[in-house]
Amino acid sequence: MSFENYSKQLVRYPELGFSLDLSRMDIPASFRGEMSGKVEKAFSDLKKLEAGEIANPDEGRMVGHYWLRRPELAPSDELREQITAPLAAVKEFAAKIHSGEIKSPGGSHFQNLLVIGIGGSALGPQLIYDALGSASPLKTWFFDNTDPAGMDRVLEEIGSELDRTLAVVISKSGGTPETRNGMLEAKAAYEAQGLKFAEHAAAITGDGSKLDNFAKSEGFLTIFPMEDWVGGRTSVMSTVGLVPMALQGIDLDEILEGAAAMDEKTRQETDNAAMEMALAWYHEGNGKGEKDMVVLPYKDSLMLMSKYLQQLVMESLGKEHDLDGKVVNQGLAVYGNKGSTDQHAYVQQLRDGVHNFFATFIEVRKPRDGESIEVEEGVTSGDFLQGFLRGTRTALYEKGRKSLTISIPEVTPHTVGQLIALYERAVTFYASLVNINAYHQPGVEAGKKAAGVFLELLKQVRAALGDEAQTAEEIAASLNADAEAVYHCLTHLAGSGQATLEMGESAAADQFAAA
Ligand code: PA5
Repeated sequence: MSFENYSKQLVRYPELGFSLDLSRMDIPASFRGEMSGKVEKAFSDLKKLEAGEIANPDEGRMVGHYWLRRPELAPSDELREQITAPLAAVKEFAAKIHSGEIKSPGGSHFQNLLVIGIGGSALGPQLIYDALGSASPLKTWFFDNTDPAGMDRVLEEIGSELDRTLAVVISKSGGTPETRNGMLEAKAAYEAQGLKFAEHAAAITGDGSKLDNFAKSEGFLTIFPMEDWVGGRTSVMSTVGLVPMALQGIDLDEILEGAAAMDEKTRQETDNAAMEMALAWYHEGNGKGEKDMVVLPYKDSLMLMSKYLQQLVMESLGKEHDLDGKVVNQGLAVYGNKGSTDQHAYVQQLRDGVHNFFATFIEVRKPRDGESIEVEEGVTSGDFLQGFLRGTRTALYEKGRKSLTISIPEVTPHTVGQLIALYERAVTFYASLVNINAYHQPGVEAGKKAAGVFLELLKQVRAALGDEAQTAEEIAASLNADAEAVYHCLTHLAGSGQATLEMGESAAADQFAAA
């Protein structure tokens, strides 16, 4: 591998301090030519999307997350207003919380923030808080699941401070069960401390949604809108991300500016880091996602990047049908955590084991804000971190394992905005290259439906339990239901103390009665 080749394979944006190194992806020069038709179409699709054409045909929606950071690009005054008015309202609300103009009912400044949301309504705020929230005036917690023990853990940490805790409930649809449950659990916890939840709560949701109606009827402090042309997993620069960021004192203008700057670079037809990345994914996975993407940021504060990208990429690209209705089972699996920690976990397999991935290293050039000690003569911890990144990249390549390397100068609102925008655009391009709709999520709906079926059966099984012990098959027969499904209801009821369980020699012989 020559330095000349490395140098040629580097997309650099010096004014952003950003670079993308494609040299370890071994993409033959001819590939660009082979892909030229698809690339041309992807640029044309992008133009149409940014001009406001319906880019999510299944849901009949525009896809407007790129407008959020450049409202002037939105195709109508009405849309521009839907971006600029909430942005001003978010800043005003945060200023009032910080100054104490809006105080907790007990008369103190709000000091904590409880964000209640899931998926696209949680992962962006979690990434931003972890990456940039160290100086936040509001210590932040998340309810991002319907796990009761998980919520108890958060509530225990907040302890008696609930009166000084502002709750922000985020749900675009306003009907997501996990978020509704989190909100009701939070409400009960506030009430248990003699507090009114609504006096501590704000909502972010679509107009007229169940959450919107609930927040209005309860008298929440405020409600921020979320528009249907912003998808959940691309909503971090809408009110979904902006409200927590503003409350955490994070410079949201800089995040928006960083994203806008990257958007501009990734509109150009040459030296386009997002298109190069999408092509690299395509080449490595044969346009079918045959290789997983391992994301390795060598910086603790970017650890949630892989989790964030897992959702952004997999929920967007993991689709059964293409836009022509053909079964394609597309996708690109993403996992990762952080370097160099992962060298002591799965990197062993990456180098020597099954070859089913490519890596993406994220390098942050500035090691830390202050001075460094020498941990060995002439060597700092930061030198080690860099050494491990470079070493792992080389060790993988020696074994024919490919990698991309993204470099940024430091973790700031601007660079985090750039990274998010880069990946959003790469997803947009890749979706065009493989001809799928990246903006719907039918698989998520299927899971929700199946959960509903389980809950309905659970009620019937609970009612069918009596004093006399019965097997799952006996109860299933009385309900005309599937025995295995009934068995899972029964073990859940036993686990939560609502049924007794006497173990038999097999699951079929287990006996259950009302507790
Ligand atoms: O990206 C998506 O669309 C999803 O992950 C949603 O964000 C998630 O399901 C939560 O939806 P909602 O904001 O409607 O509660």
